[in-house]
Amino acid sequence: MTVVWQSFFAERTKHIKGSQIRQYFALTERPEVISFAGGFPGNEFFPGEDIARSLSELAAEDTIQALQYSPTEGILDLRSLLAAKMSASGAACSAENLLITNGSQQGLDLLSRILIDEGEPVLVEEPAYIGGMSAFKSYGGVPVGIPMDLEGPIPALLEKTVRRLRGEGKTPRLFYSVPNFQNPTGLTTSLKRRKEILALAERHNLVIIEDNPYGDLCYEGSVPPSYMSLDQGGRVIYLGSLSKVLIPGIRIGWMAGPEALTEKVAQAKQSADLCSSSLGQQLAYRLCRDGYVGRHTDKLIDQYRRKRDAMVNAMERYLPAGVSFTRPKGGFFIWVQFPDCYPNSKELLDLALKRHVAFVHGEGFSSNGGGRHSARFSFSQPIEEEIVRGIKSLGQLLAEIEKECRCEEKERKAV
Ligand SMILES: Cc1ncc(COP(=O)(O)O)c(C=O)c1O
Repeated sequence: MTVVWQSFFAERTKHIKGSQIRQYFALTERPEVISFAGGFPGNEFFPGEDIARSLSELAAEDTIQALQYSPTEGILDLRSLLAAKMSASGAACSAENLLITNGSQQGLDLLSRILIDEGEPVLVEEPAYIGGMSAFKSYGGVPVGIPMDLEGPIPALLEKTVRRLRGEGKTPRLFYSVPNFQNPTGLTTSLKRRKEILALAERHNLVIIEDNPYGDLCYEGSVPPSYMSLDQGGRVIYLGSLSKVLIPGIRIGWMAGPEALTEKVAQAKQSADLCSSSLGQQLAYRLCRDGYVGRHTDKLIDQYRRKRDAMVNAMERYLPAGVSFTRPKGGFFIWVQFPDCYPNSKELLDLALKRHVAFVHGEGFSSNGGGRHSARFSFSQPIEEEIVRGIKSLGQLLAEIEKECRCEEKERKAV
């Protein structure tokens, strides 16, 4: 008798679905394709030799601690160090209310597991990080998008949405935000907006999940204070990550929040994985303690800034005037808006792939069926020369499409 696996899956797994964009990854990873799709760090920036040296020092000094299981919350040295870094940035926190996770993605999963009830609305930015939404959905959450403008999520629309949901008998309790160099738009929420959103959170008893993997990759000016540092009411949960400023391969992220919350998360983590990698934590601790991560981040800032400039300049130069795009001050992403008269962004992606250029079409980032004429472009992986070549080639494709298009959107708008 053949096993029909679908009939074995537990009822609660009905919400677990693969990301739409994964199906494109095989295509976008072909060697001839210049890919602006993946939000991965540039391969050429990985400090392989330094990591190898640090690992061999670690092996000489302290093999047991690096190879044995570690506490579920994470090793105390690393937690203390990260808590001190957060406190120095104004977000007071201690090792007791900070735990290490397998990347910030595990933080999103664990939070969903302990905070979200079946059918519960979860307020997210519109558009939002796909991985955040898929974690919420996996546990029965229903992402509800709050539109953004250049300053971030729009508070009046946040309030309106909360009231609408309440009117429908639903009680939103969570607002998920990536306030710095957001994935996918590259936008940063202004200080004024952060204060307004915190005030709304206070008024409507919302908890804010602040996901900040890109904040340290700031190419111009500085980022506003975090929600956590502005919060007076203990209603912010902060997620950090070493994936973008060091390497994603060791899967080191962290979560900081009120102790009552982090205690419950630690219980959920016990059954998820017992503990994060001891070896990865010991390595991360040494590299943070010795100031290496800070110095490496400074180098990355210079290098990614160059890639960002290459993409923005190439877009200015080669994309038709009707195509608008964000100018991020940090992070990895640019959000592109195509005129409505173009084929939708999924169809554009198919056409672009034929010319060996890839990006991510916008629909997957939307909680409400939007994004049909938008796309996320990441400048982190290709080298500068590829960025220019890829955007130039896309520009040629769009110019051909533009000839067919009779709409009025010919002037470039700053999104
Ligand atoms: C906004 C956001 N949050 C979380 C993650 C997950 O990062 P990690 O699990 O590697 O820390 C990513 C990765 O791209 C991201 O863009």
